[in-house]
Amino acid sequence: MANNPDFDLYQLSDEHSELRAAVRALAQAKIAPRAAEIDETGEFPWDVYEALAASGFHAISIPEEYEGSGGDNLAACIVVEEVAGVCGSSSLIPAVNKLGTTPLLVGGDEAIKSRYLPEVARGEAMFSYALSEPEAGSDAASMRSRAVRDGDGWILNGNKRWITNAGISKYYTVMASTDPDKGPKGISAFVVHADDPGFSLGAPERKLGIKGSPTRELYFDNVKLPADRMIGAEGTGWNTAMKALDVTRVGIGAQAVGLAQGALDAAVAYAKERSQFGKAIADFQGIQFMLADMAIEVEAARQLVYRAAAVSERGEASATYFGAAAKCFASDVAMRVTTDAVQVFGGYGYVKDYPVERFMRDAKITQIYEGTNQIQRMVVARNLLKGGAATGAGLA
Ligand code: CAA
Repeated sequence: MANNPDFDLYQLSDEHSELRAAVRALAQAKIAPRAAEIDETGEFPWDVYEALAASGFHAISIPEEYEGSGGDNLAACIVVEEVAGVCGSSSLIPAVNKLGTTPLLVGGDEAIKSRYLPEVARGEAMFSYALSEPEAGSDAASMRSRAVRDGDGWILNGNKRWITNAGISKYYTVMASTDPDKGPKGISAFVVHADDPGFSLGAPERKLGIKGSPTRELYFDNVKLPADRMIGAEGTGWNTAMKALDVTRVGIGAQAVGLAQGALDAAVAYAKERSQFGKAIADFQGIQFMLADMAIEVEAARQLVYRAAAVSERGEASATYFGAAAKCFASDVAMRVTTDAVQVFGGYGYVKDYPVERFMRDAKITQIYEGTNQIQRMVVARNLLKGGAATGAGLA
């Protein structure tokens, strides 16, 4: 699990394989039996959080010097993939902790890392990421949240939208403009605490899927932030936010692979047990071809996600390109595969007696959050046109 830049992309190391087996065992025992209920009630699964935290799977990427497990980005992807294979909502626990803390790892100094990361590693706090605003989604740099100087510190005003695990997290990485004349270079990143005076939350959004992970607005009304809440130097927040997404979009790809694999497994099992016209529907070539296409796509997505994880772990120049490509491809695969899984189940797929409609609803968001797939294609194309190291050209 430790950072191993030399691992073979086509075969997991023993450590990664053991990690997969351990997360799968936990997911089967403690999360799968709860998944339908989590979706039905829309309540955050604190029992799942505790089970993940007890094994260190809730935030596996926090380095050992901050009391974490020191897992690399592939380890983080494996955790998210295996949890998503049974419950999309629960997979947002490790995914969002990673999204919230990566800006500190990417752009923060020693003081801010040692102040916050151990608490997350110990399972005592969760961390969300706040970039989007009502009028600044894909065009994130047009944000209006504003922090103005107040002595040594800052006063923050504005709001953020679509914030995953809002209200559950104790800490929020918040991007705000400290110099609107400078555009992206005038954006800075801060840590906001849930109990900061002036901080409040909107009502939970009523969503299609990932219902056990609350999504809410954040409001900042003259929130006073001491100087030591800034992540990195003034004006580096945009770079930090983008570099963090380069790493964490791979995790959304992993979530998509997990959802697709979960749906595929259910469809294969159902095709063998469901009988029509006097034989199992798995005996019909029409079903076989569907299952074959689903399986091929899931494995292709997995390979791209793992390669992207390796590239980002090594800090290669193509991390932006691969992160966007993996997220885009895997989430499109997840949407197709989960939709086809519902089709294999026929009418039974459309009702809640089986998990495939939940996988399909949960898959949709993977094409949208951490940047829509239209934005991912834009990012891929821009890097492709730059060429060279930006696309990993020349590397096998
Ligand atoms: N790393 C470092 N710097 C980067 C970067 C990256 N990956 N991508 C862009 N930049 C830099 C550029 O180099 C440029 O800097 P210079 O001017 O010095 O060259 C600057 O940022 C502006 O870049 P662009 O000119 O490309 O800006 P743009 O506005 O045309 O496009 C974008 C930027 C890629 C579209 C960006 O706005 C983007 O990624 N949008 C999507 C936002 C997003 O992913 N939101 C999801 C939020 S997370 C979430 O979903 C919430 C949740 O809880 C799950």
